[in-house]
Amino acid sequence: MIVLGIPMYNFNIPSTLSSYFDHIARAGITFRYTANGPEGLLQNKKAVVFITRGGSYGSDHPQTAYVRQFLGFLGIEDVEFVHAEGLAIDEASRAAALESAREQIARLGRQAD
Ligand SMILES: Cc1cc2nc3c(=O)[nH]c(=O)nc-3n(C[C@H](O)[C@H](O)[C@H](O)COP(=O)(O)O)c2cc1C
Repeated sequence: MIVLGIPMYNFNIPSTLSSYFDHIARAGITFRYTANGPEGLLQNKKAVVFITRGGSYGSDHPQTAYVRQFLGFLGIEDVEFVHAEGLAIDEASRAAALESAREQIARLGRQAD
């Protein structure tokens, strides 16, 4: 299982993670090109992605879609997302977001049992 903790930086992933993605997207190792298009080589893997944001943008934001697309490109289709948003709006918003994220994490834990 792959676990990623990703803050939103300027509407997308941090440049350090982007750089990491550049290093691990390798034709012949993590994906390959075929006559039918690219094929991910990381089979039978699951990912859980924790996304945190100062503001609120929703789970269908392009940042989430991009991470899903990248992992799918490598063959990782089984991906769960947990979003904690509005962390910088005020204390109430932050507390509610963290509580909601904890509930989602507990639910994922129960599914895994
Ligand atoms: C360089 C930088 C850029 C950021 N850009 C965004 C942004 O575009 N949208 C957003 O909602 N939050 C943004 N944030 C806030 C982070 O997402 C937030 O700090 C992070 O999710 C962790 O929350 P915490 O600081 O409360 O621990 C940015 C933070 C930094 C340091």
